[in-house]
Amino acid sequence: MAEVRDQLNRPLRDLRISLTDRCNFRCGYCMPKEIFGTPTHFMPREDAMTREEIVAVVRLMSQLGVHKIRLTGGEPLLRQDIAPLIADMAEVYGIDDIALTTNGSMLTLALAKGLKAAGLGRITVSLDSLDAERFGRINGVGVRPAKVLAAIDHAAEAGLGPVKINVVVKRGMNDQDIVPLAERFRFTGHIVRFIEFMDVGMSNRWSLEDVVPAAEILQTISQRWPLHPVEAAYYGEVASRYAYDDGAGEIGLIASVTQPFCGSCTRARLSADGRLLLCLFADHGVNLRDLLRQGVAADALLERVTQIWGARGDRYSELRDPRKSQPAKRLEMFQIGG
Ligand code: GTP
Ligand code: 5AD
Ligand code: SF4
Ligand code: SF4
Repeated sequence: MAEVRDQLNRPLRDLRISLTDRCNFRCGYCMPKEIFGTPTHFMPREDAMTREEIVAVVRLMSQLGVHKIRLTGGEPLLRQDIAPLIADMAEVYGIDDIALTTNGSMLTLALAKGLKAAGLGRITVSLDSLDAERFGRINGVGVRPAKVLAAIDHAAEAGLGPVKINVVVKRGMNDQDIVPLAERFRFTGHIVRFIEFMDVGMSNRWSLEDVVPAAEILQTISQRWPLHPVEAAYYGEVASRYAYDDGAGEIGLIASVTQPFCGSCTRARLSADGRLLLCLFADHGVNLRDLLRQGVAADALLERVTQIWGARGDRYSELRDPRKSQPAKRLEMFQIGG
């Protein structure tokens, strides 16, 4: 295996794959209903990477140091071939961690068991509120928290736990849900992770005033239940970990706005139509699906991707300045996979 380093000496370790740009939710911070009400915003189905193409990319990237795969979307469970896809990836030499981030609305116990059997290691479920009315409004389609809570139980029962629960915190949207969500998962073994609302894409009307800083979230929770920091589970972990002093478990804070973590960013991304993106805030990337469809040989592809990673200098979150204009056409969260 040839390890590659980028311009900031960062190795390539993780590949985040968006399996589809479609989703059955319309969260305002990602795919606001007013803008994405009709399917015309999504790519034509024939543009989607096939199972074989995705696995070919995983095989290629594993040779450059990728060992972790995170499957995202859109909503990755909308992909009918997800179980065989996971099974194929699990067979690739060097891939030792396959995780999935889902909104949970379609995760039955049978599906969770099927994914586990295929080789999925762990699962992250998004849930922004326990209040039915508020959660229905946040997800834009009226899905109730009970449904997502059931998905979390299914994942745990299938052996995909401890489950991580992603909470995007946005001022005025769900700040009042921070404490109830933390409380709900104390003593369960699951890990709630509070995420600062990010300026991904062009459509979510991001403003710095809507960001609840991680330090504030930490203070809010630790006033109720004291917390202490815990060392990162691995190099470049996105979440900062905190454990409850009373032994109730741990939480995570993802502070990409107030405390960016580009210095240890080892992630490449693959969009559902095959673009290799080197940053969550990228506006373009070389299309690997096209190169595969053109029949470019494996060693030539390897060389190309080595060059691409070697030239990488992205550190968007560290450079973010809300007073300056942003790149003209950043991709949307559901296209790039978070
Ligand atoms: P673990 O593998 O369990 O550590 O989780 P993860 O960080 O891969 O999980 P997940 O896909 O749930 O991402 C959590 C949040 O962090 C999402 O909102 C992502 O968009 C955000 N995130 C992940 N990677 C990056 C990154 O490289 N840059 C930025 N700015 N945000 C990221
Ligand atoms: N800011 C922060 N997190 C976001 N997510 C989606 N959009 C945003 C945003 N603008 C989260 C989702 C999911 C994860 C992959 O990214 O809720 O949990
Ligand atoms: Fe769908 Fe996730 Fe985006 Fe919500 S955040 S609209 S669940 S892709
Ligand atoms: Fe990596 Fe870009 Fe996120 Fe920084 S902003 S951590 S470079 S993906």
